[in-house]
Amino acid sequence: MATQHKWLAWRVAVFLAALTPLLFWSWQVANNAAGPEPGRYLLLNIGIGGLWMLLLTLSLTPLTKLTRWKGFALIRRQLGLWTLAYATLHMLSYALFILGLNWALLGSEIVKRPYIIVGMIALIGLAVLGVTSNKWSMRKLGKRWKPLHKFSYAILGLVLLHFFWVVRADMGEWAAYALVAALIMATRLPPVARTLPKLRYRLSRT
Ligand code: HEM
Repeated sequence: MATQHKWLAWRVAVFLAALTPLLFWSWQVANNAAGPEPGRYLLLNIGIGGLWMLLLTLSLTPLTKLTRWKGFALIRRQLGLWTLAYATLHMLSYALFILGLNWALLGSEIVKRPYIIVGMIALIGLAVLGVTSNKWSMRKLGKRWKPLHKFSYAILGLVLLHFFWVVRADMGEWAAYALVAALIMATRLPPVARTLPKLRYRLSRT
């Protein structure tokens, strides 16, 4: 029972931590502290937040291998769903603040900013993974579940491409995210993945 409570507290803490940036940005907007374009402020911050969520979600498997701490594995689905929530809110900010819900503009917008298509594909991918992240889908999909959810790697690639296309001047920030993404993906390479548990063993002895 005590363990149950411990994990519930952990899950609630993660939930609150994921919610806090959204509350903070909304508060900034409500208090006129979000600069001259509050809509764009929300769009860009929530976009970056979505990328953070995706990177955090993908770092949980290597962290579990490295530490064997159950807590990381327990919040994988939760953070995956937060990634989807951020991405959906980012898309809604775009529809509301940039398009002004004028869907007739979407065609010319896509021609002007083709990276929007890349973002849309990434969002659809995240939605598919979100919908199939429950126990029922896991049972139904059986062996196909794991390969399906490996599409999250491709989604990460799409999000980085989307972001790359958006950046006009300073590539530094993009490069930092791409480096972190590359490191997280490198932990999936079989020789590196095999080393992680050994590394844990060595760390626990020192
Ligand atoms: C329907 C889907 C999407 C649409 C319409 C969309 C649209 C946009 C737009 C208009 C921008 C700002 C471009 C500018 O500076 O003018 C942007 C930036 C960005 N988006 Fe998306 N996006 C979508 C999906 C996604 C997804 C799924 C993610 C990540 C999970 C994402 C992450 C980002 C990031 C990181 C930026 C850059 C923010 C910055 O420059 O600070 N987007 N997106």
